[in-house]
Amino acid sequence: MHMKNGIAKVLASAGIIVLLITITQPPGAYAKEEHTALGPQLSERLRTLLREEMNLIQAGMGRALIAIAAGDHQAVYENGRDIYKSFILKQQLTEEDRRELMAVAPVGFIELDGAFHDTAHKLAKAGRDEDSELQAFYFSRLVESCTVCHGRHASDRFPGLSRLGESGSGHHHH
Ligand code: HEC
Repeated sequence: MHMKNGIAKVLASAGIIVLLITITQPPGAYAKEEHTALGPQLSERLRTLLREEMNLIQAGMGRALIAIAAGDHQAVYENGRDIYKSFILKQQLTEEDRRELMAVAPVGFIELDGAFHDTAHKLAKAGRDEDSELQAFYFSRLVESCTVCHGRHASDRFPGLSRLGESGSGHHHH
């Protein structure tokens, strides 16, 4: 038990460090990626689906936060699971939608979406395992995913995050 807490704490601090590194200096792997906003490039139908998903995710995150704070493990599990199953790239998309998304969305977006859903899956598991520290850790990782993806792919909608989406190629304005 002590061991487990210790590891969870180390993991949590590592997560904060990774978050700080991500904020101050985007990793080189992404440096060459295009940072054009995705929303305006989508059809009205697909953009509406994406927005619906985002609003569902946001509501689920609010409930997950409250459940983590209250030690309501079952609710953490359920909300993590719902976020994990949220439908972009999965349900609701017709074959045509899927082709459109793949044609328009940069590889980095698809990867971030995949990583986001993986982390939500881990949050659900931490809920099932009644591990509050890991729940807080994965919750913070999810928040990080929101800001990174919005900074890179929705900076028109979230100008406050546009600096996160910068390529890091050195144009700093002081
Ligand atoms: C993989 C990329 C990605 C991730 C991860 C992501 N978003 Fe988004 N989100 C977007 C994009 C792109 C838009 C802009 C859609 C548009 O232009 O209409 C958006 C828009 C939104 C909106 C506005 C929806 C509307 O009705 O206009 C909300 C709210 C939102 N996101 C919440 C979140 C939250 C909360 C998280 C994290 C828990 C998150 N998003 C994670 C890509 C992402």
